[in-house]
Amino acid sequence: APQARQDEASVQRADSLGLTRRMRRNRKADWSRRLVRETVLTTNDLIWPLFLIDSSQARSAIAWMPGVDRLNIEEAVRQAAHAASLGIPAIAPFPFVEKSLRDATATEALNTRNLMCRAVRAIKAEVPQIGIICDAALDPYTSHGHDGVMEGERILNDASVHILTQQALALADAGADVIAPSDMMDGRVAAIRAALDASGHEEVQIMAYAAKYASAYYGPFRDAIGTNATLIGDKRTYQMDPANSDEAIAEVALDLEEGADMVMIKPGLPYLDIIARVKDHFRVPTFAYQVSGEYAMIMAASLNGWLDGDKAMLESLTAFKRAGADGVLTYFAPRVAEILRAGA
Ligand code: PBG
Repeated sequence: APQARQDEASVQRADSLGLTRRMRRNRKADWSRRLVRETVLTTNDLIWPLFLIDSSQARSAIAWMPGVDRLNIEEAVRQAAHAASLGIPAIAPFPFVEKSLRDATATEALNTRNLMCRAVRAIKAEVPQIGIICDAALDPYTSHGHDGVMEGERILNDASVHILTQQALALADAGADVIAPSDMMDGRVAAIRAALDASGHEEVQIMAYAAKYASAYYGPFRDAIGTNATLIGDKRTYQMDPANSDEAIAEVALDLEEGADMVMIKPGLPYLDIIARVKDHFRVPTFAYQVSGEYAMIMAASLNGWLDGDKAMLESLTAFKRAGADGVLTYFAPRVAEILRAGA
């Protein structure tokens, strides 16, 4: 007992360790923490992915993404206007395509009156100030759920690129500001760039899903666009092996050579090392996609009372910025923008 009393006394003596540097001094008050903060998340960092559906009803719930609904075109226009009023720079719409419109060669992807093209036209007309980023990939339109076309069990590269290029042109004609090839076929960025330039779309940007991994975290997205049940096999012959990092550098280098204006890493949080490496190496606009599975994890834990959802959301988004991302695609975008506007 006397020994314990002596220890307490020495702990209380402020200069007992003789430290010249105390890291905690800068953390002592809110004003000081704000002053030394290295990374700041702003609304300008947000891209909002949203889901479209051809329906007379404004919204339909997505079971695996609580809080996210598929929107019909009128509702998507309203929500795009809301996003713009919050200061969100861009949206990234994805279509749920009727099963009857899907086939082996993604014919509907080239229909200039398809859901995506109609939505892009409507949003451009009503909310011209928001950027529209459109995926080039065939999976919403194929009966087999792959991003390209198949021959037997193989996903054909060059034939897929040919269709993706036409898809990109249809989207650009409809008013897409950015084409985002998410298919991971080789050579698609060069082919899309050439086709855009040849058709008067020199100003349309390309945001390449440069390092896109074959990930388990896309599950809820496939529920949202209705490809979960239809996907044959997996995407490992075109999406990257989660074990690889040097390969991401090679992918990004190729996409930049081929004309990408911006690159993206996907998924997000499990791949912060890739984001940091890519940003350090290339110093180009680099984006992260906080994918559907990441959203679902935070929401599920939050709805169970196991995590403070808003805090986990803001911490994860700040982590992307700290790693070097210039912006993040996140389903939380409107929620974050509202919190930031309120001055959290
Ligand atoms: C389509 C595409 C996918 C995602 C974005 N574009 C799914 C996939 O590759 O299977 C996933 C986005 C998410 O999970 O939030 N190629």
